[in-house]
Amino acid sequence: MKKRIFSGIQPSGDLTLGNYLGALRNWPRFQEDYDVVYSIVDLHAITIKQDPKLLHERTLLNLALYMAAGIDPEKSILFIQSQVAEHTELCWILACHAYMGELSRMTQFKDKSSRINQNDSIPSGLFNYPTLMAADILLYQAELVPVGEDQSQHLELTRDLALRFNNAYGKTFKIPQGHFNPFGAKIYDLQNPTAVMSKSSENKNGILFLMEEEKSLRKKIARSVTDNLGKIHYNDDQPGVKNLLNIYALLSNKTIDKTLLHFQEKGYKELKDEVSEVVLNELLPLQKRTREYLNDPTELKKIYEKGADKARVLAKPTLDDVKNKLGFVL
Ligand code: TRP
Repeated sequence: MKKRIFSGIQPSGDLTLGNYLGALRNWPRFQEDYDVVYSIVDLHAITIKQDPKLLHERTLLNLALYMAAGIDPEKSILFIQSQVAEHTELCWILACHAYMGELSRMTQFKDKSSRINQNDSIPSGLFNYPTLMAADILLYQAELVPVGEDQSQHLELTRDLALRFNNAYGKTFKIPQGHFNPFGAKIYDLQNPTAVMSKSSENKNGILFLMEEEKSLRKKIARSVTDNLGKIHYNDDQPGVKNLLNIYALLSNKTIDKTLLHFQEKGYKELKDEVSEVVLNELLPLQKRTREYLNDPTELKKIYEKGADKARVLAKPTLDDVKNKLGFVL
């Protein structure tokens, strides 16, 4: 039996090169050795206000992007979270076992709720976000969860909830482990290279979006912030240069040492030009493949319906076991 992997990305903003290098690009590799389940977690996205039309478009776009990145819906389970009702059901049950105290300690909750406009109230869904994430993972008995470091607290909570439930009602859930980005490196904002490149940042000039036009990608890379040392070294005193070197190394499949050797006698202009080349070499074909999937909505629909069917087959036995243990009449 292969180990099962679960991961998801929210369709809450346009995906960036950071999402790609940190997650999407690595996910297809798991398909060979693991039993993988990948989801577009739209239920998570609505914890922050979304425009319905945009949410709809982005959900389908992300589905197409996942496949363009190499996730094969025949080898993997690829589905849209809101189409599998078991997620919301288990979320409620777990919410009845999660404590206000532990949820209040989640740094992402504190961070996201502090960014909500002073005059607006904080939706309780935002508070329960990690409970839904726990439901996603536990429903499939996933053992491994590839995520960024920013999700490690949510993963710890998932493990706590699983253990708490197992202790109270008998062994029900596998205890999952985080899989923290073994291949990628964190990609930083090109304008502010000490902050991660995030799809939700205000200033879009430092963010490379996966579906962005060639001209605009080139411009952003050419204008990326470096420093006035004028030397290509790989260290934290030169976060802008380091970030560009990371992008180059990852996309050209070279080690950092090889990359440094390659740029030894070169200047920032050449570094940026070559980063542009590797970025465009990767993204333009990705964009083309994505558009091909989007141009065939009938086929796309077949894919996500089949994905949801396969997901339900795995989710239902766990949920039934949970309900049975709680005393629900089945
Ligand atoms: N919270 C994750 C993030 O923002 C997205 C997510 C939702 C997720 N459910 C998940 C990731 C389950 C892994 C497993 O990155």
